[in-house]
Amino acid sequence: MDIVNQFLWVIFPYICIALFIFGHIYRYRTDKFHWTAKSSEFIEKKQLMIGSLLFHLGIIPVVFGHIGGLGIPKSWMQAIGVNDHLYHIGAVYIGGFFGVVTLVGMFILTFRRFSKKNVRQLSSFSDLAVNSILLFIVFIGVYATFITNAVVPDFDYRTTISVWFRGLFYLNPNPALMSNVPLTFQLHVLTAFAIFALWPFTRLVHVWSVPLNYAGRSYILYRRHKHTK
Ligand code: HEM
Repeated sequence: MDIVNQFLWVIFPYICIALFIFGHIYRYRTDKFHWTAKSSEFIEKKQLMIGSLLFHLGIIPVVFGHIGGLGIPKSWMQAIGVNDHLYHIGAVYIGGFFGVVTLVGMFILTFRRFSKKNVRQLSSFSDLAVNSILLFIVFIGVYATFITNAVVPDFDYRTTISVWFRGLFYLNPNPALMSNVPLTFQLHVLTAFAIFALWPFTRLVHVWSVPLNYAGRSYILYRRHKHTK
């Protein structure tokens, strides 16, 4: 059993992190010109707009929630006055709300990809897999937030998952912290690492090309035109 825990909570996450880092370097160096979200807007627009909007509106706060819940130690939160009760309300109600928004968006996007004939025909195996895995990760995350937290009230992911997760970055992860975590959370974390490993080889690379400067730049860009004599 120890060897299984060692694999699941030490070896597997590090393989995924390594694939994430070196996969991006490899993809950028060998396949720069296919670095794209592969939009299928020209085939079907309405469902794409609604699904994509909901997914992206939901996932951004969820990412910030993950940074807070996984990255900031419980004691630090308590030191600034965020006790267990307050944290729990924020995580379940605010986190859960954005989780549901993400889930509805992801469901629409996945349903569209599988059910619209032309979109499906244009999709590669990788596109279908990314959608399905993301849908699963989001579903099980929302399920764990609402159901598992209620069914197993004594379980605290901030003294188990979060401590183990931070240990990965200190190169000292303790697999024992993960061995008694409820199955839904374990599945959520393992599939999340799997998507990190696949990330550089899929359309998810588009995330790193978000044109953030759009928000602050002027609407029209004027460029000096060089006249040639
Ligand atoms: C190793 C990486 C990850 C870990 C350790 C992790 C851990 C967690 C934990 C502990 C919760 C429960 C939060 C609560 O009950 O308050 C949660 C919820 C959730 N996770 Fe993750 N997660 C990871 C990656 C991801 C990824 C990649 C996605 C999306 C693609 C995701 C989407 C969600 C969603 C939608 C929820 C429910 C809403 C929320 O509580 O924010 N997670 N995750």
